[in-house]
Amino acid sequence: MLYVKLVLLILMCGSFVSLLNSPSIHHDDEHLTQSSAGVPRVSYEPDDTRYVSDVTVDWPKISKAMQLVAGAEHGGGGARVALLNFDDGEVQQWRTVLPRTAAAVARLERAGSNVTWEHLYPEWIDEEELYHAPTCPDLPEPAVDADGDGEEVAVFDVVAVKLPCRRGGSWSKDVARLHLQLAAARLAATRGRGGAAAHVLVVSASRCFPIPNLFRCRDEVAPRDGDVWLYRPDADALRRDLALPVGSCRLAMPFSALAEPHVAPAAPPQREAYATILHSEELYACGALVAAQSIRMASASGAPSEPERDMVALVDETISARHRGALEAAGWKVRAIRRVRNPRAAADAYNEWNYSKFWLWSLTEYDRVVFLDADLLVQRPMAPLFAMPEVSATANHGTLFNSGVMVVEPCGCTLRLLMDHIADIDSYNGGDQGYLNEVFSWWHRLPSHANYMKHFWEGDSGERLAAARRAVLAAEPAVALAVHFVGMKPWFCFRDYDCNWNSPQLRQFASDEAHARWWRAHDAMPAALQGFCLLDERQKALLRWDAAEARAANFSDGHWRLPIADPRRNICATAAGDGEAAAACVEREIKNRRVEGNRVTTSYAKLIDNF
Ligand SMILES: *[C@@H]1O[C@H](CO)[C@@H](O)[C@H](O)[C@H]1NC(C)=O
Ligand SMILES: *[C@@H]1O[C@H](CO)[C@@H](O)[C@H](O)[C@H]1NC(C)=O
Ligand SMILES: *[C@@H]1O[C@H](CO)[C@@H](O)[C@H](O)[C@H]1NC(C)=O
Repeated sequence: MLYVKLVLLILMCGSFVSLLNSPSIHHDDEHLTQSSAGVPRVSYEPDDTRYVSDVTVDWPKISKAMQLVAGAEHGGGGARVALLNFDDGEVQQWRTVLPRTAAAVARLERAGSNVTWEHLYPEWIDEEELYHAPTCPDLPEPAVDADGDGEEVAVFDVVAVKLPCRRGGSWSKDVARLHLQLAAARLAATRGRGGAAAHVLVVSASRCFPIPNLFRCRDEVAPRDGDVWLYRPDADALRRDLALPVGSCRLAMPFSALAEPHVAPAAPPQREAYATILHSEELYACGALVAAQSIRMASASGAPSEPERDMVALVDETISARHRGALEAAGWKVRAIRRVRNPRAAADAYNEWNYSKFWLWSLTEYDRVVFLDADLLVQRPMAPLFAMPEVSATANHGTLFNSGVMVVEPCGCTLRLLMDHIADIDSYNGGDQGYLNEVFSWWHRLPSHANYMKHFWEGDSGERLAAARRAVLAAEPAVALAVHFVGMKPWFCFRDYDCNWNSPQLRQFASDEAHARWWRAHDAMPAALQGFCLLDERQKALLRWDAAEARAANFSDGHWRLPIADPRRNICATAAGDGEAAAACVEREIKNRRVEGNRVTTSYAKLIDNF
């Protein structure tokens, strides 16, 4: 604490001295008069600490980084630098420590103090613009004062930015931090030499890394040195990123683009792939087989010129050779991974191994991957998503994206970043979704039709909204690109109806139309693959139990009245699958009893938490 105060004192003294001496004070005034026309000056509110960074500038490390830049460009010295969010004392010190660089101060009017992360990342937006087009809060753009002649400086070799790193809570979901990084990126993209981007030098407490999908680790000039990162970004990539909305307050692609063929591919299609993952248990293998079938059926219905893309299934050591063979037969290229444990998860928790999803970033033979959870049914070509940058996804709840459909750009150093922070980043639900939302807090919103949740929320306007959602799921031909089967999965039900109806907790996920669609894709698979979608005896017992309870409660939807004709009711999964004696199956037959033991289906609370 004493140390912090001391630093503050020194900083304050520095500011005071430099205020007296600073040649830029005149331009300060100029800027003030320029920008104050009618706009309240929130920038200099005395209590506004949002942009204040308490990281101590490590001058030897800055000098080292500058040598890397200047050495490359000018044979030492002479680099033009824009300084963003350095206080006056630090600007002064920069000029003292690095006298051969030409350092100019970048000005950034602060975002309105009423702009919150929730404004940038609202839970719901009017995607289809039925009432009005969604808008984003305004984040002011940077400007640069000149050293002497009052002209804006046109060209820089380096944009240096100092970032705040909030203590506690989520340091990455911070308006000021995002604003400063976007401003630095904009300067770098527009003020570099000869169309190239300027270098970006980021000073931030080391635990708070720069936005990984804006300043990409592959663009690092040298490995991070203490609190100093140095990037040489690609100008085109930066400009593309900066053209995106600042948050999920607007769609990152127009709603209508979902219906268009994917033109002007960012990469040759052989560098693009679909991917899924199976870890910890084989229960989702059936889902992955049907997902593959649905991807191929949807692609065939798309533009004839649409190239075929690879499909890659990451599988961990718990997935048997027999299941791997089936995945290959369904069209997946099977890739073995070592599963990744979340050290904060309880042993045997449903999400203990969910960090395995990080291996997606190891698929570096592809520039872009569209990831799909195994419980998705693809109904229309997903190709338009390949035009989107990392991480593009649909909204989940609050400010978060759903990690069931994600556009990612595989990269070894991003994989390392994800693995390196497992111990220090907290995931709100212990799953990969919470973790990825901390790392990729700057995510880009896809239309909800790209990952349509089979979920009907209760509420005020609940019934109307639910009806609209049911209409989307039932639409013929399909309108949603992919349906996400949250709740009990279709292959855990008898095929006759969606078994989510029979349980009060799961009814919010029930849709007979979506259920029927999934079974249509299932039925289009070869019989041998359908054999991976059988029910085990415990699950059958559970389904019968739930139907009996629903009957006893006289639930008004009446699904419990429907006779079960699903032929799987009479097939013993174990005997059909692993060649065990059918007798073993009979022994395990459990009639009309609710049994514990099946990891996925015994706890409905788990399924719901999970969502
Ligand atoms: C913040 O306040 C300004 C000025 O009062 C207003 O125009 C703007 O809409 C507000 N923004 C948000 C996100 O509430
Ligand atoms: C964790 O993985 C399981 C098994 O693949 C999956 O059902 C679940 O959706 C994941 N949960 C989270 C929170 O990511
Ligand atoms: C079950 O509910 C229906 C209305 O949905 C009602 O007509 C019927 O009497 C109820 N039966 C029992 C046994 O409560």
